[in-house]
Amino acid sequence: MKNKKLIIAIDGPGAAGKSTVAKKLALKLNYTYIDTGAMYRCLALYVYENKIAIDDVASLVDAAQKIEIFLDKDGKVFLNGKDVTKEIRSVEVTKIVSPVSSPKEVRKLFVSKQRKLVNESINGVVMDGRDIGTVVLPHADLKIFQIASLEARVQRRYLENKSKGIDVPYEEIKNDIAQRDYLDIHKDFGALKKADDAIEFDTTNLTIDEAVLWIYNKALELM
Ligand code: DC
Repeated sequence: MKNKKLIIAIDGPGAAGKSTVAKKLALKLNYTYIDTGAMYRCLALYVYENKIAIDDVASLVDAAQKIEIFLDKDGKVFLNGKDVTKEIRSVEVTKIVSPVSSPKEVRKLFVSKQRKLVNESINGVVMDGRDIGTVVLPHADLKIFQIASLEARVQRRYLENKSKGIDVPYEEIKNDIAQRDYLDIHKDFGALKKADDAIEFDTTNLTIDEAVLWIYNKALELM
């Protein structure tokens, strides 16, 4: 059937280029793009700004209930009405986002927010994260598990930071990514894991556009 509106889940480790690929793919398909990492980053930013202890689960859950997150169609992210697209990518937020997104109660709230966004979409959807294919959208039409070598991911993040005028040493980025991988993989709930029916997709030697085209062609096969 042509023109079937697909639900596409893209999971994988940090800095593997998921968000960039997912956003471009959604644009190419005229689908809604939902960046679930950005949602957890909003919570982490709120926690950071309000000096909430990252091991104070009750306060994390309270914050998760209180905050309003809005993702607009151009990829801008709003927290309680304020544009935080840049702030949520800061080193400070990146350092705490994995533990902040770990408690079961926080994940329950976010998973239901994410499913609601999909249900409300009149379009097809591209959603990226860590647990989309396994937990949030187990019935997605297409599941991609996007990976890249640690070196390639560090290099990409390093160049991305540099282009934004953010100066973080290569070794520090490498340590942060490796540590976040560890935390994301070892979460009790919503851990980073390939769904049994996901396609593993290694982008180490691919450009962004090549990666987008590859997933796009897979999607066309299913329409
Ligand atoms: O994709 P990202 O780097 O923006 O994600 C930020 C963090 O949020 C990451 O360390 C893990 C967490 N995350 C999650 O636990 N579940 C998701 N579906 C998406 C992100």
